[in-house]
Amino acid sequence: MNKGIHRCPSSLQMENTYVPELLDGTEEGLYLGLDLGGTHLRVLLLELAHGTPIREQVKKYHINSDLRVGSAIRLFDYLAECVSDFVIEQGLQDVELPLGFTFSFPMIQHSLDIGMLVTWTKTFNCPDAMNVDVVNLLREALDRRGDTKVKVIAILNDTTGTLIQGSTLDHNTAIGLILGTGSNACYLERADRVEHWETERHGEREVIIDIEWGAFGDNGVLDFIKTDYDRENDANSLIANSFTFEKYISGKYLGEIVRVVLAKLTKDGLLFVGEHTPGSLLVPGNLTSDLVSDIEQDSVDGGNSSTRKVLMKFGIIPDEEDVKIVQYVCEVVSNRAALLVSICLAVLLKRIDKESVTIAVDGSLYKHHPRLETWIKQYIPLLAPKHEFKMIHAEDGSGKGAALVAAIAQRLQERLN
Ligand code: BGC
Repeated sequence: MNKGIHRCPSSLQMENTYVPELLDGTEEGLYLGLDLGGTHLRVLLLELAHGTPIREQVKKYHINSDLRVGSAIRLFDYLAECVSDFVIEQGLQDVELPLGFTFSFPMIQHSLDIGMLVTWTKTFNCPDAMNVDVVNLLREALDRRGDTKVKVIAILNDTTGTLIQGSTLDHNTAIGLILGTGSNACYLERADRVEHWETERHGEREVIIDIEWGAFGDNGVLDFIKTDYDRENDANSLIANSFTFEKYISGKYLGEIVRVVLAKLTKDGLLFVGEHTPGSLLVPGNLTSDLVSDIEQDSVDGGNSSTRKVLMKFGIIPDEEDVKIVQYVCEVVSNRAALLVSICLAVLLKRIDKESVTIAVDGSLYKHHPRLETWIKQYIPLLAPKHEFKMIHAEDGSGKGAALVAAIAQRLQERLN
């Protein structure tokens, strides 16, 4: 983290988000949020009074897989189409609306409204957007339509949105964490520690830093925990040899690691002995992390019905021993993820070093996995015994956070004018 923040070679990008403040209670009016990066695309409208949301409208849009891996122009035209569909549906096409854009991929930020894409991750890969300012791509797409008065005024990461949304629930919030399809965290850093700051400074005391911990280990520093299963998981991923840490812990990959382990045990004659070869278990991507969560629920309840149901999907009728082995594999893989996340959070708590820090969390894996949170809450006190912390669920932090950051951005702009 220190190397990253001092701009020395590091697999932790420690990106300046240029969000130097939380809400201060003076924000008023209508703000739009656009959220791209997870399973769905979302557009939302927040009405704020005294910095607090008093009305919210959200619409989810599906993004086809061909848009996720096609040309950037097509993807951004679709984003603009969804924004105008939503705005027109709200009857707000003639109103000048500030928009915050949650773009949950690593970016180099030159300011609060300039974000150059470093690399795609998770389920996206539109190569022609690399090293391009995605705010510009969105503005151009909105201009091509010309049917609304939307103004893109801020770009942010989903972890930043989650931290900001969390801070409306608990003012001690200083960390935003996403455990979803991907994983990442951001935190409130002392402004004097931050070297990469391209805009004029105005006496900021703090600023949110996007760690981009998904890429942790891409320089080899985490190879000492890499197993053959991780290597196979990486080889089966959309972009191999990248996002080492994310591939150990996030929702896009936990199921795949479990599948790779089970396939190996089956091939070695240690699992599903006497069953016909479960062909579909051998297909990469077939065992998703929500199924791991279902199996983990059995371990919590001391049952086996979910595990059997999951295996039935693969045409497997397991015996008792098989059930235990499958549950054990899910536990080991999930527990490793919980421990790795806890280690990083413990380090962050020590770095922030405030009396009590609240960690705002969101993401599908966090919500659906029955015991990640319990483990994390057990591990952190062992790793950072002197640091008091709380975890809260900042529901839809990436969506609401987008609109909230737009409100902060507008306030900052008005202050300068
Ligand atoms: C991206 C991050 C994002 C995280 C969670 C990662 O793949 O690089 O920017 O915050 O996923 O969505």
